[in-house]
Amino acid sequence: MEFITYEQEGFVGVITINRPKALNALNSQVLDELNETLDSIDLDTTRALILTGAGDKSFVAGADIGEMSTLTKAEGEAFGKKGNDVFRKLEVFPIPVIAAVNGFALGGGCEISMSCDIRICSENAIFGQPEVGLGITPGFGGTQRLARLVGAGMAKQMIYTARNIKADEAYRIGLVNAVYPAEELMEQAKKMAAGIAANAPIAVRNCKKAINDGLQVDMDEAIVIEEKLFGDCFETEDQKAGMGNFLEKDKEKKLKVVPFQNK
Ligand code: CAA
Repeated sequence: MEFITYEQEGFVGVITINRPKALNALNSQVLDELNETLDSIDLDTTRALILTGAGDKSFVAGADIGEMSTLTKAEGEAFGKKGNDVFRKLEVFPIPVIAAVNGFALGGGCEISMSCDIRICSENAIFGQPEVGLGITPGFGGTQRLARLVGAGMAKQMIYTARNIKADEAYRIGLVNAVYPAEELMEQAKKMAAGIAANAPIAVRNCKKAINDGLQVDMDEAIVIEEKLFGDCFETEDQKAGMGNFLEKDKEKKLKVVPFQNK
């Protein structure tokens, strides 16, 4: 792979978009490689992912403007689908994905972070959907996910004005969960990922699915989705060991990481 690196540290996988000369902008090759990387992740040995960008300036500065500049209507639509398909794969990926936003998250960069379950960022992060200034709409999910995350009013303001916002404003409007000094960002992302990975993997996956699927339907259907995924956890090793530890009232044991299994 030329533009994506993948490293596995224990149960945590770190995906780095590595095209720093173009501030990690997303061209077709980056999107293809990201797709391949997601397909190759071993879900038996990986419990959480971190997505970040190479270098200390940019997470992802958007879709590649050079590549988009000559597209026809049909090619533009196909490019949108290519990005949307990969971002959707990330969004519904069975395990949680944390975006460690280490600088510019513009256009497709903001959009890919919004496809992740959780966003944390460095103090120098800048978010925005500058597309209307380029004569296009956000095309990798921005018109849909931003409104769902920060509300339609704020999303419309950001998208119509194409105004970038700094990390503290992104935090204030709920676009990111936390802001850290740049040098602490990866450490904090890894700490959070390790915390997730220490919990029962079937339960964590089912929580992700319940939240994602439940948000697409009304509450009556949503609670049925929850019931099925709740029920699905029973009789698993995770559930037996997790509850057994509690019931044994053994403080030492309760604190220990249960040897959770995937099946
Ligand atoms: N596409 C292609 N190349 C990009 C890029 C992008 N989105 N963003 C940055 N680059 C390239 C620059 O062309 C430049 O390359 P060269 O050195 O070969 O000239 C290199 O990265 C460094 O960029 P700058 O010199 O511009 O760096 P800067 O520090 O002066 O500015 C910046 C940084 C403010 C992020 C600026 O690069 C910028 O505004 N980039 C574009 C951001 C943008 O508009 N993103 C949205 C794209 S549209 C989109 O994403 C559509 C969608 O929804 C699918």
